Amino acid sequence: MLNFAIQTARDAGRLLAERFGRNLRISNKSELDLVTESDLASERLIIDRIKTHYPRHAILAEESGASAPAGGASSEWRWIIDPLDGTTNYAHGYPCFCVSMGLEHQGRLQLGVVYDPMRDEVFSAERGEGAALNDKRIHVSSTPNLASALLCTGFPYDVRERSEFARHFSNFIMNAQGVRRDGAAALDLAYVAAGRFDGFWEEGLKPWDVAAGALMIEEAGGRVSNYANGPLDIFNPPILASNGLIHEQMMHVLAV
Ligand code: IPD
Ligand code: CA
Ligand code: CA
Repeated sequence: MLNFAIQTARDAGRLLAERFGRNLRISNKSELDLVTESDLASERLIIDRIKTHYPRHAILAEESGASAPAGGASSEWRWIIDPLDGTTNYAHGYPCFCVSMGLEHQGRLQLGVVYDPMRDEVFSAERGEGAALNDKRIHVSSTPNLASALLCTGFPYDVRERSEFARHFSNFIMNAQGVRRDGAAALDLAYVAAGRFDGFWEEGLKPWDVAAGALMIEEAGGRVSNYANGPLDIFNPPILASNGLIHEQMMHVLAV
């Protein structure tokens, strides 16, 4: 199933790349939240593939929501899909976006794939088997403290209603080596797994933003939790993800 997920994410990513920079039909889901025809085409490709190869699996996808397996039976397996993470970047021609696919078995994440078609980078993980970037094993960074850490965050679409966000952001700017905002949460998490970022925090994300990346970080030796060190609930993130070494320090900043 990992090979299937990698192949499918690659094909969906290629579709996104082919259309990237063209004039696309874009509509608004809310004031800041966009959807392009590429989001929809990518999701269609992924769902068609899953239905052909795994007709008994359930699917949760950003643009079309939940779909039960053929015949309406329940399933122990569920795919969680973001067909284009980084839509705002994509719509503006900023080449930072990805496809994200996670697979749960009985509610537990089993595998995750994040594909960046602009760099042809496949990040993947399988529970108990570690995490990889283009087939090479990856590990989180060994940065020992916040002062020398490169962090990443994202601004949720309802950021204007979240006064605490600006406080967290400014506290991290004051305490870390650097803070980035790339605009594709699934890719940001994959970068923590690969040791490119030392930590990531964001609130207001959705299951398809975090499912694959969270498993990847754990399999790469990092730590994932909510802001209060409880287990991550992919249906209700805040998410705090790190190399483990700076987790407590990040939690302190989020508590201020
Ligand atoms: C968004 C991106 C962004 C994050 C937003 C997400 P989308 O996903 O991951 O980085 O800050 O909260 O909703 O809409 O591009 O799939
Ligand atoms: Ca997303
Ligand atoms: Ca999306």
